[in-house]
Amino acid sequence: MSEMKSTPHIKLEEGGYFAKTVLMPGDPLRSSKIAHDYLEDLKLVNNVRGVQGYTGLYKGEPVSVMASGMGMPSIGIYSYELFNFFGVENIIRIGSAGTIQENIHVRDIVFGQGACTDSRYAETFKLQGTFAPIADFGVLSVAVEEASKLGATYHVGNLLSSDVFYGDNTTANPAWQKMGVMAIEMEAAALYMNAARAKKKALAMCTISDSLVTGEVTTAEERQNSFTQMMEIALNTAIRL
Ligand code: HPA
Repeated sequence: MSEMKSTPHIKLEEGGYFAKTVLMPGDPLRSSKIAHDYLEDLKLVNNVRGVQGYTGLYKGEPVSVMASGMGMPSIGIYSYELFNFFGVENIIRIGSAGTIQENIHVRDIVFGQGACTDSRYAETFKLQGTFAPIADFGVLSVAVEEASKLGATYHVGNLLSSDVFYGDNTTANPAWQKMGVMAIEMEAAALYMNAARAKKKALAMCTISDSLVTGEVTTAEERQNSFTQMMEIALNTAIRL
Protein backbone atom coordinates (compact mmCIF):
# COMPACT_ATOMS: atom_id res chain seq x y z
CA MET A 1 0.00 0.00 0.00
CA SER A 2 2.85 2.39 0.81
CA GLU A 3 4.65 4.10 -2.02
CA MET A 4 7.70 5.62 -0.29
CA LYS A 5 9.93 4.57 2.58
CA SER A 6 11.02 7.94 3.79
CA THR A 7 10.15 11.64 3.53
CA PRO A 8 11.48 14.62 5.51
CA HIS A 9 9.10 13.91 8.43
CA ILE A 10 8.14 10.23 8.16
CA LYS A 11 10.43 7.22 7.94
CA LEU A 12 8.88 3.78 7.64
CA GLU A 13 10.24 1.24 10.07
CA GLU A 14 11.39 -2.07 8.55
CA GLY A 15 8.32 -3.85 7.07
CA GLY A 16 6.02 -1.00 8.09
CA TYR A 17 3.18 0.41 5.98
CA PHE A 18 0.27 2.79 6.39
CA ALA A 19 -3.29 1.50 6.03
CA LYS A 20 -5.57 3.35 3.62
CA THR A 21 -7.17 5.14 6.57
CA VAL A 22 -5.16 6.99 9.21
CA LEU A 23 -6.67 8.31 12.44
CA MET A 24 -4.90 11.48 13.62
CA PRO A 25 -5.04 12.75 17.18
CA GLY A 26 -2.90 15.80 17.92
CA ASP A 27 -0.91 14.16 20.68
CA PRO A 28 1.69 11.40 20.05
CA LEU A 29 1.02 9.85 23.47
CA ARG A 30 -2.64 9.57 22.59
CA SER A 31 -1.79 7.96 19.27
CA SER A 32 0.25 5.34 21.09
CA LYS A 33 -2.54 4.74 23.63
CA ILE A 34 -5.19 4.31 20.94
CA ALA A 35 -2.99 1.87 19.08
CA HIS A 36 -2.27 -0.19 22.19
CA ASP A 37 -5.88 -0.15 23.44
CA TYR A 38 -7.66 -0.94 20.17
CA LEU A 39 -5.40 -2.47 17.54
CA GLU A 40 -4.21 -6.05 17.20
CA ASP A 41 -1.02 -7.20 15.46
CA LEU A 42 0.32 -3.77 16.24
CA LYS A 43 3.43 -2.40 14.55
CA LEU A 44 5.24 0.90 15.11
CA VAL A 45 5.64 2.26 11.57
CA ASN A 46 7.09 5.73 12.20
CA ASN A 47 8.91 7.37 15.07
CA VAL A 48 10.54 10.46 13.54
CA ARG A 49 10.52 13.26 16.17
CA GLY A 50 8.66 10.87 18.49
CA VAL A 51 5.56 11.25 16.33
CA GLN A 52 4.62 7.64 16.76
CA GLY A 53 2.64 6.07 13.93
CA TYR A 54 1.18 2.59 14.27
CA THR A 55 -0.59 0.18 11.95
CA GLY A 56 -2.65 -2.70 13.29
CA LEU A 57 -5.94 -4.51 12.87
CA TYR A 58 -9.31 -3.33 14.13
CA LYS A 59 -12.03 -5.99 13.79
CA GLY A 60 -9.64 -7.67 11.35
CA GLU A 61 -9.15 -4.61 9.10
CA PRO A 62 -5.88 -2.62 8.85
CA VAL A 63 -6.06 0.87 10.36
CA SER A 64 -3.21 3.31 11.12
CA VAL A 65 -2.96 5.94 13.79
CA MET A 66 -0.40 8.74 13.87
CA ALA A 67 -0.27 12.12 15.62
CA SER A 68 -0.61 15.38 13.69
CA GLY A 69 1.04 17.68 16.23
CA MET A 70 -0.63 21.01 16.96
CA GLY A 71 -1.67 23.61 14.42
CA MET A 72 -2.15 23.88 10.69
CA PRO A 73 1.53 23.84 9.66
CA SER A 74 2.05 20.58 11.55
CA ILE A 75 -1.03 18.70 10.30
CA GLY A 76 -0.31 20.28 6.92
CA ILE A 77 3.06 18.52 6.74
CA TYR A 78 1.92 15.11 7.99
CA SER A 79 -1.28 14.97 5.95
CA TYR A 80 0.59 16.10 2.81
CA GLU A 81 3.18 13.36 3.17
CA LEU A 82 0.62 10.65 4.03
CA PHE A 83 -1.69 11.55 1.14
CA ASN A 84 0.97 12.21 -1.50
CA PHE A 85 3.84 9.86 -0.65
CA PHE A 86 2.44 6.96 1.38
CA GLY A 87 -0.74 6.08 -0.53
CA VAL A 88 -3.09 7.05 2.31
CA GLU A 89 -6.66 7.63 1.08
CA ASN A 90 -8.52 8.83 4.17
CA ILE A 91 -7.46 10.84 7.21
CA ILE A 92 -9.79 11.23 10.17
CA ARG A 93 -8.70 13.84 12.70
CA ILE A 94 -9.78 13.00 16.24
CA GLY A 95 -9.15 16.05 18.37
CA SER A 96 -10.49 18.36 21.01
CA ALA A 97 -12.10 21.75 20.61
CA GLY A 98 -13.48 24.63 22.64
CA THR A 99 -17.11 25.45 21.89
CA ILE A 100 -18.40 28.98 21.31
CA GLN A 101 -22.11 28.03 21.28
CA GLU A 102 -24.29 27.83 24.39
CA ASN A 103 -26.22 24.78 23.18
CA ILE A 104 -23.01 22.74 22.77
CA HIS A 105 -21.58 21.24 25.94
CA VAL A 106 -18.36 19.67 27.13
CA ARG A 107 -18.12 15.98 26.17
CA ASP A 108 -20.34 16.51 23.07
CA ILE A 109 -18.80 15.54 19.73
CA VAL A 110 -18.62 17.99 16.84
CA PHE A 111 -18.17 16.88 13.23
CA GLY A 112 -16.57 19.51 11.02
CA GLN A 113 -18.76 19.58 7.93
CA GLY A 114 -16.79 22.72 7.12
CA ALA A 115 -13.74 24.42 8.59
CA CYS A 116 -13.46 28.21 8.63
CA THR A 117 -10.04 29.60 9.41
CA ASP A 118 -8.22 32.76 10.43
CA SER A 119 -5.03 31.44 8.85
CA ARG A 120 -3.57 32.31 5.44
CA TYR A 121 -3.02 28.65 4.53
CA ALA A 122 -5.55 28.82 1.68
CA GLU A 123 -3.67 31.69 0.05
CA THR A 124 -0.76 29.39 -0.71
CA PHE A 125 -2.99 27.67 -3.32
CA LYS A 126 -3.23 31.00 -5.21
CA LEU A 127 -7.00 30.87 -5.77
CA GLN A 128 -8.79 33.95 -7.02
CA GLY A 129 -11.36 33.87 -4.22
CA THR A 130 -12.09 32.17 -0.91
CA PHE A 131 -11.84 28.39 -0.72
CA ALA A 132 -14.43 26.65 1.50
CA PRO A 133 -12.68 23.71 3.20
CA ILE A 134 -15.16 20.85 3.67
CA ALA A 135 -15.17 17.29 4.96
CA ASP A 136 -15.67 14.40 2.57
CA PHE A 137 -19.42 13.83 2.54
CA GLY A 138 -19.15 10.03 2.42
CA VAL A 139 -16.79 9.84 5.40
CA LEU A 140 -18.93 12.35 7.31
CA SER A 141 -22.13 10.37 6.60
CA VAL A 142 -20.62 7.10 7.82
CA ALA A 143 -19.24 8.79 10.95
CA VAL A 144 -22.61 10.37 11.77
CA GLU A 145 -24.28 6.96 11.37
CA GLU A 146 -21.74 5.38 13.72
CA ALA A 147 -22.20 8.19 16.26
CA SER A 148 -25.98 7.64 16.21
CA LYS A 149 -25.52 3.88 16.69
CA LEU A 150 -23.45 4.55 19.83
CA GLY A 151 -26.00 7.06 21.13
CA ALA A 152 -23.44 9.88 21.18
CA THR A 153 -24.47 13.53 21.58
CA TYR A 154 -23.12 15.20 18.47
CA HIS A 155 -23.40 18.29 16.28
CA VAL A 156 -22.53 18.74 12.60
CA GLY A 157 -21.47 22.11 11.20
CA ASN A 158 -18.61 24.56 10.96
CA LEU A 159 -15.41 24.47 12.98
CA LEU A 160 -12.94 27.34 13.21
CA SER A 161 -9.34 26.32 12.67
CA SER A 162 -7.42 29.08 14.40
CA ASP A 163 -3.71 29.91 14.29
CA VAL A 164 -3.84 31.17 17.87
CA PHE A 165 -4.75 29.42 21.09
CA TYR A 166 -3.97 32.58 23.09
CA GLY A 167 -5.69 35.10 20.83
CA ASP A 168 -5.50 38.78 21.73
CA ASN A 169 -8.64 39.87 19.86
CA THR A 170 -11.68 39.79 22.18
CA THR A 171 -14.14 40.40 19.34
CA ALA A 172 -13.02 37.40 17.29
CA ASN A 173 -15.00 34.63 19.00
CA PRO A 174 -18.31 36.53 19.24
CA ALA A 175 -18.13 37.25 15.52
CA TRP A 176 -17.60 33.57 14.63
CA GLN A 177 -20.31 32.64 17.14
CA LYS A 178 -22.81 34.87 15.32
CA MET A 179 -22.04 32.93 12.12
CA GLY A 180 -23.00 29.68 13.87
CA VAL A 181 -19.49 28.25 14.10
CA MET A 182 -19.63 25.41 16.63
CA ALA A 183 -16.16 25.25 18.09
CA ILE A 184 -12.52 26.29 17.79
CA GLU A 185 -9.62 23.96 17.13
CA MET A 186 -6.40 24.38 15.19
CA GLU A 187 -6.05 21.80 12.38
CA ALA A 188 -9.17 20.88 10.37
CA ALA A 189 -8.96 23.53 7.63
CA ALA A 190 -5.43 22.58 6.57
CA LEU A 191 -6.36 18.89 6.55
CA TYR A 192 -9.41 19.58 4.35
CA MET A 193 -7.41 21.72 1.94
CA ASN A 194 -4.66 19.14 1.58
CA ALA A 195 -7.25 16.41 1.01
CA ALA A 196 -8.94 18.50 -1.67
CA ARG A 197 -5.66 19.22 -3.45
CA ALA A 198 -4.55 15.57 -3.32
CA LYS A 199 -8.05 14.29 -4.33
CA LYS A 200 -8.24 12.33 -1.09
CA LYS A 201 -10.76 12.24 1.76
CA ALA A 202 -10.77 13.79 5.21
CA LEU A 203 -12.95 14.38 8.24
CA ALA A 204 -12.26 16.18 11.51
CA MET A 205 -14.22 15.23 14.62
CA CYS A 206 -13.57 16.69 18.05
CA THR A 207 -14.79 16.19 21.57
CA ILE A 208 -15.60 19.44 23.33
CA SER A 209 -13.02 19.87 26.10
CA ASP A 210 -14.07 23.33 27.25
CA SER A 211 -16.67 26.02 26.66
CA LEU A 212 -15.43 29.50 25.81
CA VAL A 213 -18.93 30.88 26.55
CA THR A 214 -19.93 29.24 29.83
CA GLY A 215 -16.47 28.43 31.20
CA GLU A 216 -17.48 24.76 31.56
CA VAL A 217 -14.41 22.47 31.54
CA THR A 218 -13.94 18.70 31.57
CA THR A 219 -12.00 16.74 34.14
CA ALA A 220 -9.22 14.49 32.86
CA GLU A 221 -11.45 11.46 33.49
CA GLU A 222 -14.40 12.96 31.59
CA ARG A 223 -12.11 13.84 28.72
CA GLN A 224 -10.87 10.28 28.58
CA ASN A 225 -14.42 8.84 28.58
CA SER A 226 -15.72 11.10 25.85
CA PHE A 227 -12.55 10.49 23.89
CA THR A 228 -13.17 6.75 24.13
CA GLN A 229 -16.60 7.15 22.52
CA MET A 230 -15.15 9.28 19.71
CA MET A 231 -12.41 6.69 19.17
CA GLU A 232 -14.98 3.97 18.66
CA ILE A 233 -16.87 6.16 16.20
CA ALA A 234 -13.65 6.85 14.28
CA LEU A 235 -12.54 3.21 14.23
CA ASN A 236 -15.97 1.92 13.19
CA THR A 237 -15.97 4.56 10.44
CA ALA A 238 -12.44 3.68 9.28
CA ILE A 239 -13.26 0.03 8.63
CA ARG A 240 -16.27 0.98 6.48
CA LEU A 241 -14.27 3.19 4.07
N1 HPA B 1 -8.84 26.89 20.98
C1 HPA B 1 -8.16 26.15 20.12
N2 HPA B 1 -8.06 24.84 20.22
C2 HPA B 1 -8.66 24.22 21.25
C3 HPA B 1 -9.39 24.95 22.19
C4 HPA B 1 -9.48 26.35 22.05
O1 HPA B 1 -10.11 27.05 22.84
N3 HPA B 1 -9.87 24.05 23.10
C5 HPA B 1 -9.45 22.84 22.72
N4 HPA B 1 -8.72 22.93 21.60
